[in-house]
Amino acid sequence: MPKATAHYMCQACGAVTSKWAGRCEACGEWNSIIEEKQEITPKGLTSGKGKKLGLVPLSIEVEDAPRRETGVAELDRVLGGGLVEGSAVLIGGDPGIGKSTLLLQAAVRAATGGLSCVYVTGEESVAQVSLRARRLGLVHPGVSLAAATSVRDILASLDAPQPPDMVVIDSVQTMVVDNIEAAPGTVSQVRAASHELIRLAKRRGFTLFLVGHVTKDGQIAGPRVLEHMVDTVLYFEGERAHPYRILRAVKNRFGGTDEIGVFTMTDLGLQEVANPSALFLSERSEHVSGASVFAGMEGSRPLLVEIQALVTPSYMSSPRRAVVGWDGNRLAMVLAVLETRLSARFSDQEVYLNVAGGLRIGEPAADLAVAAALLSAQSGVPIAADTVIFGEIGLSGEVRRVSRSEARLKEAEKLGFKKAVCNAAAPATPAAGGLKVRMVTQLAQLAEVAKPGAPAYDLAAL
Ligand code: TYD
Ligand code: MG
Repeated sequence: MPKATAHYMCQACGAVTSKWAGRCEACGEWNSIIEEKQEITPKGLTSGKGKKLGLVPLSIEVEDAPRRETGVAELDRVLGGGLVEGSAVLIGGDPGIGKSTLLLQAAVRAATGGLSCVYVTGEESVAQVSLRARRLGLVHPGVSLAAATSVRDILASLDAPQPPDMVVIDSVQTMVVDNIEAAPGTVSQVRAASHELIRLAKRRGFTLFLVGHVTKDGQIAGPRVLEHMVDTVLYFEGERAHPYRILRAVKNRFGGTDEIGVFTMTDLGLQEVANPSALFLSERSEHVSGASVFAGMEGSRPLLVEIQALVTPSYMSSPRRAVVGWDGNRLAMVLAVLETRLSARFSDQEVYLNVAGGLRIGEPAADLAVAAALLSAQSGVPIAADTVIFGEIGLSGEVRRVSRSEARLKEAEKLGFKKAVCNAAAPATPAAGGLKVRMVTQLAQLAEVAKPGAPAYDLAAL
């Protein structure tokens, strides 16, 4: 007879303890420890009769997962090209950010394209959703609506020979699996509900969207359990005070994870933003010191954003450095390089850096634009408004090449910029706009034009 022993395992890091605890001592995660029974077979697995695996060569020819587009281009791109049959997508985000609106719009757009969609709401009534849909002009017979929270009922309704193509569960935290005695929204309920729904999606071949509200600490309840279970995790982000929303893939078994989709929230629902650079630069005030335009990349797509710096005298022994939208360590490095290689002095000054529009940049390619904004802020001389900047700065003060220079330059040209400062050559096929590319390989070249008293740093005059 196999002997059963009980032990407790942290679901976040896998540490095993003999007693239950509210917090895992190994990784510090809260509420991650659950009891697991382990059956110990006296003979090992090799003595049993296993089935032989059908091994295939790695080079086997398989077709790409077929895609069905929703018709919301920003969503399709983030998904990696559209919906994949039998896949599960988790959309996380703060309450009120627009997840329900996005998925309702996507369902109607997909239905217009011939797909059948089911939208199950556990948060609102059917009347509320249909009123909203009518107000937004989203009415289509291909979208069916239900208000339900019982996973058993949902499974019974969807487990049919002719399943829909797309199913939205809004939200997974309201779903109840009735053979589990826990409140909706708890880890075990969320996990069990998702597990059942994902299994059905795989079996019946529909694309499942699970909406998940993000809790205060930025995690979808329960602790990362859902991220492992689904194929794709998208986050819908944005500031309530700003109208734009960014859809970001953080995990995708069927595509890249660095794609973003940009929307604005209007009275008529979410509008897709085909040209996000124009949006992020729209409120830019020209002829102000401390601002530079960075030609960045978000996934496969170029994105121009404004970087703002403010430098003020400090009377503290360790002056404040505050960063919004960029990496604080990276700022410290750029400041150190500016001090060491250009003898610029920031040690007695407070430095504030902001990526305008609430966007978050992760690329080191922003180094040069940050350095330019800092130098401009310190001297009070604005950077010419028709200039874009990009490049990675090395510790010895060299400016390094970054990937996709040509795409960055093309985007700048498209938006009417006249000059680019970077470590890259001009595109082989210049467009009609006529962008002048100024190649810099050393940070010192930036400072040569950073002379106080000039009307504007004409960086392209290097
Ligand atoms: P919603 O999609 O319900 O958010 P979530 O499902 O993520 O909780 O969006 C709610 C917010 O969006 C609400 O604060 C109002 C705003 N909104 C608009 O501004 N315009 C619209 O057309 C809609 C439908 C919502
Ligand atoms: Mg909602």
